[in-house]
Amino acid sequence: MRAIITGSGIGIPKNVVTNEMLSRIMDTSDEWIRTRSGIEQRYYADPGEGSAELGMIAARNALAAAGRETGDIDALVFATMTPNYFFPGNGPVVQAKMGFGEIACYDIRQQCSGFLYGLDLADALIRSGKHQRVLLIGAEVHTPFMPWENGWDITIGRDDRQVTPEEYAANTAIRDRTVLFGDGAGAVVIEAVDDESRGLLATKLFTDGSNVEALYVPGVGFRKRPYVSREQIDASDPIPVMEGRAVFKEAVSRMPAAVRAVCEETGADVADIDVLIIHQANLRIVEGVAKQLGLPPEKVPHNIERYGNTTAGTLPILYHELIADGRIQPGMLVCFTTLGSGLHWGAALYRA
Ligand code: ACO
Repeated sequence: MRAIITGSGIGIPKNVVTNEMLSRIMDTSDEWIRTRSGIEQRYYADPGEGSAELGMIAARNALAAAGRETGDIDALVFATMTPNYFFPGNGPVVQAKMGFGEIACYDIRQQCSGFLYGLDLADALIRSGKHQRVLLIGAEVHTPFMPWENGWDITIGRDDRQVTPEEYAANTAIRDRTVLFGDGAGAVVIEAVDDESRGLLATKLFTDGSNVEALYVPGVGFRKRPYVSREQIDASDPIPVMEGRAVFKEAVSRMPAAVRAVCEETGADVADIDVLIIHQANLRIVEGVAKQLGLPPEKVPHNIERYGNTTAGTLPILYHELIADGRIQPGMLVCFTTLGSGLHWGAALYRA
């Protein structure tokens, strides 16, 4: 019994935000963002458009691609660190709005590794015989992290005024994070198939929480009383903190190690990988990992230039694009790898 992906889809919001647009509200430039990260643009959701809404667009597209109806799905896994509500997670929101039966809905986090962990969970549910068809969604709406009180309309071109000097300075103070992220969702339908020649072959997942503070949100947590306060907001505690260089170093060492480990588990050579679907946090990380693994650029596609980092949305969006344009063909060996806040990281090998 193997778990195979029978359909994929994406949900991308309509507002394209270029680097130049961001430079209207903070001290940054297209040149800095491109050179340091490879990002050229990203998409922003509209207010009221949450990760559940983007996830549902992706889910409908994935179901259509798989030729399935909601009634065919017997479990839902929703991976996001930016759910519509603090609780419950997006699972029940999607279950009710899309009209699924009263199926099991798992809400997982794992940040940039959310989709990879979801893949592993779906595989375990299917291979245990517990479920036959699982819908896995990875979706993120990062824009609410960005505290641009007056900058939204200026950024997306609805208003040609300038932000105040105070707001410009506040936006500049967190520019190292805000320029990297975009909103978006991807989804896949995963089914049990009695065919050992294809499907998910192996996964290797890892966690090291010894430096949680390398990438985390200091505020809005339940160690504080109350969990949201004016003081925390004034101290910018709801805004993510990132030690960019430290995370970069972890990414370029741990992802290649995970890819090697998952290959070893299945007896494959790294050189056998036809397509490496790697988390899109920074083009320099993508290139660094490819180089360490000795994989040529044509085996390591990227779309960070168009989307930025969409956290749990990243892997399924890239997977979907590669399926849609025929770069993943039946029989190909596909490797997924990612690293993100936690730190959580890992790799999965999949025979298309
Ligand atoms: N525009 C212009 N200048 C900037 C910007 C910006 N947007 N951001 C930072 N700078 C400046 C800094 O202030 C600094 O200036 P200084 O030298 O005068 O002090 C200079 O640029 C260099 O800053 P660094 O932080 O050293 O730049 P670096 O080359 O390390 O790039 C980056 C920063 C892009 C964040 C990189 O470290 C990175 O990609 N890290 C990994 C991110 C990642 O993988 N995250 C994990 C996934 S996310 C998740 O799990 C949710």
